[in-house]
Amino acid sequence: MVVGCELFKEFCSKGSRKATAEGISNAKFIQANGITVLEHLISNTSLDHLFINFPDPWHKKRHHKRRVFTPTFFKMCRKKLTEQGKIHFISDNREIYAFALENAQKTFLGKDGFAVTEKAIPDWFPRSKYHEKWSKMDRVITYFEVGRREETEKKAATA
Ligand SMILES: C[S@@+](CC[C@H](N)C(=O)[O-])C[C@H]1O[C@@H](n2cnc3c(N)ncnc32)[C@H](O)[C@@H]1O
Repeated sequence: MVVGCELFKEFCSKGSRKATAEGISNAKFIQANGITVLEHLISNTSLDHLFINFPDPWHKKRHHKRRVFTPTFFKMCRKKLTEQGKIHFISDNREIYAFALENAQKTFLGKDGFAVTEKAIPDWFPRSKYHEKWSKMDRVITYFEVGRREETEKKAATA
């Protein structure tokens, strides 16, 4: 099951229509705050993938207290992930990306074999209209992934 969260009804309806048109039957769209859904509706150790795609940056100083990607947020995410669960974070905003990356590293590094890896956007990664638009304008888009390291990676790291 795939659950998409969005604050605006119109975007949820669009997502629903697109999923139906593409024959995707396991996707649900909820008009709700994604953080509330994650905290209260997703059971612990049940989440295979959490996609955080182009979140609003709240880059003005007076908005900083609204920033979501704090260590508290990532600790909550850690509880929700399955053993092989992953978080995918993508953004075109340098500041919010750096803020999230730093807090993900603070939360995950050295814990239960987790790794936080900056990498090229995987080929399989779903691309929204927003993503396509910024790519065409040559905007820099950056991506990191959080997940437990494979045994082979662990061995290489300790060798
Ligand atoms: C820059 S757009 C990106 C849209 C889409 N995620 C994509 O990748 O194309 C940011 C979207 O996040 C939504 N949003 C902001 N805060 C949210 C929250 N707490 N929960 C769910 N959606 C949120 C906004 O309504 C807006 O549509």
